[in-house]
Amino acid sequence: MWWRNDREVEDQTSRPPPGRVIVIGNEKGGAGKSTVAALIATAMMYRGSRVAVIDTDLRQQTLGRFLENRRRWLPAAGVDAPVPLEYKLADDTMALAMGDPAEAVARFEEAIGLAMADADLVVVDTPGSDTPVSRSAHLQASLVVTPMNDSFVDFDVLGQVDPMSLELLRPSLYTRVVQEARRTREAHGRSLDWVVLRNRMAGADVRNRERVTQGLEALADTAGFRIGPWLRDRVAYREMFPFGLTIADLSPGVRPVSISTPRAAAKEELRELLVALRLIPDAAAPANAPVIEVAAREMA
Ligand SMILES: Nc1ncnc2c1ncn2[C@@H]1O[C@H](COP(=O)(O)OP(=O)(O)OP(=O)(O)O)[C@@H](O)[C@H]1O
Ligand SMILES: [Mg+2]
Repeated sequence: MWWRNDREVEDQTSRPPPGRVIVIGNEKGGAGKSTVAALIATAMMYRGSRVAVIDTDLRQQTLGRFLENRRRWLPAAGVDAPVPLEYKLADDTMALAMGDPAEAVARFEEAIGLAMADADLVVVDTPGSDTPVSRSAHLQASLVVTPMNDSFVDFDVLGQVDPMSLELLRPSLYTRVVQEARRTREAHGRSLDWVVLRNRMAGADVRNRERVTQGLEALADTAGFRIGPWLRDRVAYREMFPFGLTIADLSPGVRPVSISTPRAAAKEELRELLVALRLIPDAAAPANAPVIEVAAREMA
């Protein structure tokens, strides 16, 4: 059964409209969905949002695991930081994944209904494959965020390009899922904003980057997405998973790692992402996590 963890952060500042659902989706595995879901969820708690999360990747449960780590690490380290509400679709999500898909969808619908009532921002992580639960999640989304690696292998699930000219031939698999969700929502007077962002950008790869940029710009109008800012490939985005923390949690006093220049740059990248997603105003300053003194040895 679903359950909720209800250590919550107090509302402090202006919030997005109640029950807003953000789905992080891409049928391509390893694109950075769970990483981006954790980043948005933690960052928005520090901005005063009441955040709920649902991990619909029933097999991997990466976001669920991240939260498990967070719930374990924070009290062990004596750190008082916000924890989002979590709605699990089952105690044994693997069994749910192997069972009747209609049951999994029913569990999801129950969970999202509760999450939307309890939180003002619901972040839904999805698997790197097309599942009935993932489709159902996309129908609930007013915002879909699609991270992708800077590669035509990832591009291929969004659109097919001519191998000789690299001109766009047609939208492909995942694009059709989002378009269908948008059509259904529009039939009921709801909108769907879709933002594609390139993740794990590396310094060297200039020619490939330009080509992918061209491809995305050609596809954006046809497919109906906005192109978001990049996230670079940074250790800062992956190193704190065992603590259940992200760069949004970092402050001078929290020391699983110290705040170095690359980590500060990652924080700024995250702020730009939140602005592009229209979750915070353009002028918003970086949110500082509360300063909590924790000795490095306690984090081991
Ligand atoms: N910007 C980044 N910089 C460095 N490492 C990253 C970045 N984004 C993601 N990663 C790493 O890339 C790997 C895949 O990321 P993640 O698990 O978030 O992808 P996913 O789309 O959720 O994958 P799946 O489809 O399997 O659920 C992980 O090891 C993660 O730590
Ligand atoms: Mg994942």
